[in-house]
Amino acid sequence: MSILSVKDLSFDYPDKSILHRLTFSIDKGDFLCIAGTNGTGKSTLLKLILNILRPLEGSISLLGKSSVNFSEYDKIAYVSQKATSFNRDFPATVEEIVSLGLYKKNSFFKRESKKEREQKIDEVLKKVGLTEYKKKKVGLLSGGQQQRVFIAKALISQPEIIFLDEPTVGIDVSAVDSICCLLGDLNKAGLTIVMVTHDISSVLYHSTKILILNEAGGGKLMDSEKFNSKPIFAHFSHGGHNA
Ligand SMILES: Nc1ncnc2c1ncn2[C@@H]1O[C@H](COP(=O)(O)OP(=O)(O)OP(=O)(O)O)[C@@H](O)[C@H]1O
Ligand SMILES: [Mg+2]
Repeated sequence: MSILSVKDLSFDYPDKSILHRLTFSIDKGDFLCIAGTNGTGKSTLLKLILNILRPLEGSISLLGKSSVNFSEYDKIAYVSQKATSFNRDFPATVEEIVSLGLYKKNSFFKRESKKEREQKIDEVLKKVGLTEYKKKKVGLLSGGQQQRVFIAKALISQPEIIFLDEPTVGIDVSAVDSICCLLGDLNKAGLTIVMVTHDISSVLYHSTKILILNEAGGGKLMDSEKFNSKPIFAHFSHGGHNA
């Protein structure tokens, strides 16, 4: 069964048409990369899926529920575009930022004890390789490390699906590689991932599906293996049709 299904989705901003009858779906356990040139509507598509924006036409189903009635926000996590831009004096520590990810759940369920909370923070920091930075001010970390902090904050609520909008922008090649490997490992452990990226080549090996949005507002969905067999530019060159 699809974990995310988008059907005939259209969306306009007041002065601009963005998406036009976009249709695609992914299954539980997929690792979807969404690509496309600047302004094709990648971030807008994530905001529509997450109910931050409402479709003009069409429908979105997430975890088997229509986005209009969606309420299971504790099962999804979102790392927005440019989530990491702390200046060096930002006062919070890594563990404080990560613990914010627990609030969502705690508002619906009984609060965990301090010990349980600490345990969850330690577990998730270990997962993203930041154990030794727990007490450090987040503004002192590198861009790649800050991105891991945001991924940890998203993971601590144990979501079924995570949405990331360009998590590898502005960080060096080795940090990109390690974030892509981290996401690949999380995906292998069962997490469904939807990631917007301009850097398909870095993540292609880990992903299962690629959706390329085009300037006509449509998109083309393909298996990563098929994408692999063509030069990357060939996929961006044309095509106004949907998947
Ligand atoms: N709130 C808004 N009001 C009006 N236009 C907007 C708004 N947000 C985005 N846009 C415009 O809609 C288009 C799609 O924006 P979006 O941010 O979804 O693109 P994107 O594919 O994520 O681009 P990028 O690769 O630069 O992140 C852009 O031309 C953008 O300027
Ligand atoms: Mg964007």
